[in-house]
Amino acid sequence: MAKIFLGILFLSIYSWAGIFYSCAGCHGFDAGKKALGKSKVIKGWSVEKIEHALNGYKNRTYGSYSKKIMYGQVKRLSSKDIKELALMISNFK
Ligand code: HEC
Repeated sequence: MAKIFLGILFLSIYSWAGIFYSCAGCHGFDAGKKALGKSKVIKGWSVEKIEHALNGYKNRTYGSYSKKIMYGQVKRLSSKDIKELALMISNFK
């Protein structure tokens, strides 16, 4: 029973997280981890702040030592994707 419950929970997180799924490997499923021990914890950031960071990684105007890693993550994202991601992450509790 517990296994089934966990399975359903996992599946719903998976589908709900959608495009964030690829980010979760580094940032954590609730965005609460320091990615690779290097990034800031982005959980609790506002939509504007996240959007600014992601667009900045894409345009190479934002970031620290590991910004190349993030450039690789966001270069294929459209501005609509970035907006959706920012909205989603800002809602993580
Ligand atoms: C391979 C691991 C990895 C993946 C996958 C990854 N990130 Fe990052 N992320 C990092 C690292 C490392 C940094 C810090 C980069 C730097 O030095 O500026 C970072 C920084 C960030 C920041 C800014 C935080 C700060 O430190 O200023 C945001 C926002 C962010 N990532 C969002 C995302 C989103 C959204 C995705 C998915 C599209 C994603 N990341 C995928 C590793 C990753």
